[in-house]
Amino acid sequence: MSLPPGFLDELRNRLSLGQVVGRKVMWDQRKSNQGKGDLWAPCPFHQEKTASFHVDDRKGFYYCFGCHAKGDAISFVRETENVDFMEAVKILAAEAGMPVPERDPQAQEKADRRTQLVEVMEQAVKWHRMQLQTAAAGEARDYLARRGLSPEAQDRWEIGFAPANGGVFAHLTGKGVEAQQVIDAGLAAESDRGGAPYDRFRGRIMFPIRDARGRAIGFGGRAMDPNHPAKYYNSPETALFDKGRSLFNHGPAREVAGKGKPLIVAEGYMDVIALSEAGFGATVAPLGTAITEDQLRLLWRMADEPIIALDGDTAGLRAAMRVIDIALPLLEAGKSLRFALMPEGLDPDDLIKAQGAGAMQKLIDAAIPMVQLLWQREIEGKVFDSPERKAALDKALREKIRLIADPSIRSHYGQAIKDLRWALFSASGAPKSSNKRPRQWSAARDPWKREISPVAAARASALAAAAADEDHLREAVILAGLIVAPALSVEFEDELERMECRDPLHRDLQASILRHIGAEELRHIVASECGEAALEKLLSQNHVAISPVMRRVDDEEVARLCLAEEFAKLTARRGHRREIEDAVEDLSGVADEGLTWRLAQASAALNNAGRGKDEDKVDYAIGKNGARMKKDEQSAFDQLLDKIDFAKGAKRPN
Ligand code: UTP
Ligand code: MN
Repeated sequence: MSLPPGFLDELRNRLSLGQVVGRKVMWDQRKSNQGKGDLWAPCPFHQEKTASFHVDDRKGFYYCFGCHAKGDAISFVRETENVDFMEAVKILAAEAGMPVPERDPQAQEKADRRTQLVEVMEQAVKWHRMQLQTAAAGEARDYLARRGLSPEAQDRWEIGFAPANGGVFAHLTGKGVEAQQVIDAGLAAESDRGGAPYDRFRGRIMFPIRDARGRAIGFGGRAMDPNHPAKYYNSPETALFDKGRSLFNHGPAREVAGKGKPLIVAEGYMDVIALSEAGFGATVAPLGTAITEDQLRLLWRMADEPIIALDGDTAGLRAAMRVIDIALPLLEAGKSLRFALMPEGLDPDDLIKAQGAGAMQKLIDAAIPMVQLLWQREIEGKVFDSPERKAALDKALREKIRLIADPSIRSHYGQAIKDLRWALFSASGAPKSSNKRPRQWSAARDPWKREISPVAAARASALAAAAADEDHLREAVILAGLIVAPALSVEFEDELERMECRDPLHRDLQASILRHIGAEELRHIVASECGEAALEKLLSQNHVAISPVMRRVDDEEVARLCLAEEFAKLTARRGHRREIEDAVEDLSGVADEGLTWRLAQASAALNNAGRGKDEDKVDYAIGKNGARMKKDEQSAFDQLLDKIDFAKGAKRPN
């Protein structure tokens, strides 16, 4: 049912969450501050003696720091009273004195239609199961027996059979179901050639798919012939069946996971069945498509760390990386994934058959955290024997980590990667590659136990500091140049505007110049605005005093060239600085050859660009970055930018 817009907000506003929750918990009076609506109690969603459950009565939200349960008044009533959303709304509306509007007739009709489709699906489940017992299903029964599914297991999974010539459409319509409903349920399809709709499932073993509440929503149909081009055929999307938001075995798995069993995500129907039959009841699978964001959210509602069981081949690893890419932006505190890698060529079903449930249990126990798989993919089969290759590794990993939305988790990932990196490059001197699977990594090389190298950390921050000093000097020369040659301030206004000064004195001077662009008396104006002492401090600096701008005060061309050069270098430097900051932020502590090399490249390029050979012959060009420069320096500068881009692997600054 749909509620009128604003109804829920009004409801939440009228209610006190503290009051709603207060009926179920005992507030911790010492920890709580009633006046501020800051309430604490032992969590009603998990067993505990301490008060980790927090209610923010003003915002109307609760959060448990122990089990991470969170939500508002409606979800609280849903969870504690075990009612559905609308029932919770009704309970709370009655409490708030708000009449719940009558059902929207259109929504009602849609709901009724779904209920009817569910009934059609139930009849189809029954019919297919009956077909499995007929003479025509001999081959199907043999097939199931060969795959080790006992008649009891077949019953538990409600496995059925769709005969080669179909029959479900005729059966259901014969029972009075509308033809359109059979089509809408995804069981039959309109024929292109006219005539009666045809049955979608023919000659297949039928696996009913139920939603979390146990309603039949679709089928997976498996061909028995191993050479059949479509091994599985699944129900199409229908009003009931939303593949991206459903999971095979959702309801039973949720129940078992709720009792603390690890939640496993397998790839196929048969894997789920085999795992469940072998005692791993908390197992689900997506429905013939790659795992979606919605499915991940469903999984995290069932367990904090679902274990993705993957085929141990490249396709399996590729699938894992897709899952990781979807998961990274969604990560929240306490929610993550683990990955259990199957031996090459086996799926969980094969493994259990070949080596028993114990072998599977071992793999689950050894499931690796997501960050380690991320790392593993980047280093797998590669040799990091050059700084360039290490730099490429940094870049690839940094890009992944950037996908994480939560800042705290992002920084923990940065740290974990750093540790892994340190272990790889520093553990035994010479750089080495690793072709080993992560689960085979020895405890002695356990990267999680390593400390960051303090020497490397110091080196990284020293490099950053040196770069900042150099910027400071350039800014000083620029500011001084503009003050003594005020006519040039008109030409360089944009560049000046964009200059990012860290020194407050420089910022003052910059602002003052910008306010009086082109003023002939700029020097006096700036002195009066910023103070004579400040100006004196700027102009008397050694490197300012020796710069061409100051030495050849009356030669505007030289001043122009000098300023263009300094601005260009600052611009380049800005990209360089970001590069350093990125590196320091993400991987500080591991500034080894890779990082040092990147910085050295950028610095060398900067120096090349900065070497003005012939300052008197001025021949300008507009560079790729828009800066005015001498032509012969232009190509050097453009090369510099290209080198920085290469080093950064990112877009050119500006
Ligand atoms: P698998 O081929 O790994 O499935 O495909 P499985 O469960 O191990 O199948 P068996 O053991 O050979 O019977 C994984 C899943 O991908 C979907 C199905 O959902 C299947 O369970 N799939 C696979 C299809 O939708 N169509 C196909 O043709 C193949
Ligand atoms: Mn299989």
